[in-house]
Amino acid sequence: MEAALFDPQDGYYTSRVALGFEGDYLTASDLGPHFARALAKAFVDLWTQLGKPAAWDLVEAGAGRGVFLRDVLGALERERPEAARGARPTIVEVSPRLREQQSAALAGRDLRWASDARALAPVQGVIFANEVLDAFPVHVLVRTADGVREVFVEERGGVLAETLRAPSQSDLGWRVPERLPQGGRWEVSPAAEGWVASLGPALTSGYVVFVDYGGDENELLTRLGAGTLRGFSRHRLISDPYGEPGAHDLTASVNFTAIRRAAEGAGFVFAGRATQRDALIALGIREATARAETPIEQLRALGRRSAIDTLLDPNGFGAFEFVCFAKDAPTDGLRMFAGARSDATGSGSRR
Ligand SMILES: C[S@@+](CC[C@H](N)C(=O)[O-])C[C@H]1O[C@@H](n2cnc3c(N)ncnc32)[C@H](O)[C@@H]1O
Repeated sequence: MEAALFDPQDGYYTSRVALGFEGDYLTASDLGPHFARALAKAFVDLWTQLGKPAAWDLVEAGAGRGVFLRDVLGALERERPEAARGARPTIVEVSPRLREQQSAALAGRDLRWASDARALAPVQGVIFANEVLDAFPVHVLVRTADGVREVFVEERGGVLAETLRAPSQSDLGWRVPERLPQGGRWEVSPAAEGWVASLGPALTSGYVVFVDYGGDENELLTRLGAGTLRGFSRHRLISDPYGEPGAHDLTASVNFTAIRRAAEGAGFVFAGRATQRDALIALGIREATARAETPIEQLRALGRRSAIDTLLDPNGFGAFEFVCFAKDAPTDGLRMFAGARSDATGSGSRR
């Protein structure tokens, strides 16, 4: 999975990645500026909690096509110029192909770049990542009658096929929950956890906000060990994730229990969690705009409503999780968690 996604020459994110309607999959920012505008409000809240520092870092990790950061900065400048003035926009990105698209989307902006957040220390402000944790490689473990085994991939008759062996690292076996039924699969991502831990030394004071699909350990267990590793190409789930490595996206649902453990181990304090639906509603994404008078305004309003409904769909984007961790910063009273209920169910989008 690591090679298929990040091989320096042929990895999907290195050589092929294509996001948006013309690409392999959509993310929230492909549906217009609504997601970014709502998140801009959340970032202003966090900046306010930090005491409105004159200069602060606004870091997006894994910035895709760069449109989210562009739209956030636009919204801040329009709505909250006092916060926009001191914001130092920064991108952490490993894909050279996406860096090019980000440069184009943010042309004319004074941006900082890094491929590793640790190079940015000391960060004071906000680190945000949408659909990044799901892109890290996972180990797939299976409970068998003979104990826990790991899924390896080997070449058989010219194609890649699964084979079970003893876990590649001794600690992987005990990471599988007792309740996982025999035959059930469980994914563990030391890479994602290590990446979250690497943000600890980078951020001196402020917040980390992750948005992604997945659930806590209990929610993942309700899937009865079906496993969540899957591939996408041209907006379709592909039937064989091992076919044509590097030619398509591979992803797995995020285990937020493991992410929280990694974050707390790195010195962060849990500050809240909500479904995307609840968080965006709490941030006012549905707040009425001016009444549409002309036919063109009415058409625009319809498009806007439909995009917002898609972002809030409880069976799709709306079921994603917003999770926030703080470091040397207050954790109470964050507006994005004001309506939080933990009742995420259903499936949709890349979930
Ligand atoms: C699924 S895309 C999401 C893009 C964007 N956030 C959006 O919502 O459209 C994953 C992003 O994470 C980046 N990425 C993957 N691994 C990374 C890492 N270790 N550090 C920083 N960025 C990473 C990818 O290159 C890509 O930009």
